[in-house]
Amino acid sequence: MTVLVTGGSGYIGSHTCLELLNAGYDVVVIDNLCNSSPKSLQRVEELAGGKHIPFYQADVRDRAALTKIFEEHTIDFVIHFAGLKAVGESVAKPLAYYDNNLNATMTLCDVMGSHGCKRIVFSSSATVYSGDNKMPLSETSKTGNCTNPYGWTKYMGEQILRDIAKADPEWSVCNLRYFNPVGAHESGLIGEDPKDIPNNLMPYISQTAIGRRDHLSVFGNDYDTPDGTGVRDYIHVVDLARGHVAALSYLQDHKGECIFNLGTGVGYSVLDMVHAFETANGVDVPYEIAPRRPGDLPTVYSSPEKSRQVLGWEATYSLEDMCRDTWHWQSLNPNGYQD
Ligand code: NAD
Ligand code: UD1
Repeated sequence: MTVLVTGGSGYIGSHTCLELLNAGYDVVVIDNLCNSSPKSLQRVEELAGGKHIPFYQADVRDRAALTKIFEEHTIDFVIHFAGLKAVGESVAKPLAYYDNNLNATMTLCDVMGSHGCKRIVFSSSATVYSGDNKMPLSETSKTGNCTNPYGWTKYMGEQILRDIAKADPEWSVCNLRYFNPVGAHESGLIGEDPKDIPNNLMPYISQTAIGRRDHLSVFGNDYDTPDGTGVRDYIHVVDLARGHVAALSYLQDHKGECIFNLGTGVGYSVLDMVHAFETANGVDVPYEIAPRRPGDLPTVYSSPEKSRQVLGWEATYSLEDMCRDTWHWQSLNPNGYQD
């Protein structure tokens, strides 16, 4: 079985390619490298004992490039990671986000359909859930009211796939809603390599610990949470990657649309993360309390029950593992793939 992985050289994509190879799938990647390095896939090949990943440096919106891939390979499944993901940038450049994220999805599905490939896993996000839900979030919790264009591209991306599956019962569509992916492969060879100043907490913590940043700003300590700082559901990226392997098995014999949360079901605060990182790695993470970040919710965590029961998947890595593996990657590659 061959899986086409769009955005496969990125953070989650590279870890997923490795888990797919380990599970016996063949993998083909398309990525335009707008936010990743080709080194990640070279390292995945190394970790997979020298298995080869055919790589196409192209944009998923490029119909001719996609068609060439489908002509050169028999693709059984697609996992669609390719997308822009910086929330602040999406507010400043909404058209770039709608163009990249939605046109890529539509071109991809069109080319897939015309080659008879109708099984797709889509990278959605907890950001599609409306802010007024009770915790934990289950797949039936209310969606919408997104606070930024990035979030809307995920909401609309899910809807496009849902409508395709409704129109043609041959399609199998799996919308996976990720909570907060962190960590790295235990080898320290692949990991998250933000090109600019990180927006997300974990890369900011590790870049602070290694001295690339002066201190972490903790965005608000007056939320209604146990220590006043924001609470999130952090999940090890290798667990997340394995969730995709479980989703492919499910799609083999299920048609229509399905939705699964990929999270641990446990929430940790910003200060929990700082202290866990310091303890796991014996390093200091200097921090200062700063104003709240606009658009942030106090507490977000998943119910992973449906994924456990239906996919037979659950997260296995602890918070300590997430902190240790992030630091291992960061300390072996202080400047990411540039080293
Ligand atoms: P990433 O930026 O590391 O990976 C995305 C990859 O897609 C990059 O390699 C980039 O070069 C490529 N890409 C972007 N647009 C493309 C296009 N038009 N054509 C070809 N390649 C393109 O990000 P990631 O963290 O690995 O995220 C993967 C997916 O998961 C994204 O869709 C993201 O929105 C989603 N997601 C991520 C998180 C997170 O916290 N990391 C949370 C929820 C959802
Ligand atoms: C953010 C995005 C969300 C996106 C997700 C994954 C916003 C409002 N939400 O989610 O749409 O799907 O990333 O890309 O941007 N924090 C600090 N200091 C920092 C960074 C973060 O205190 O320098 C805090 C935040 O306030 C939050 C927690 O850490 O409480 C986690 O933040 P982050 O990693 O950005 O993830 P989310 O806010 O959950």
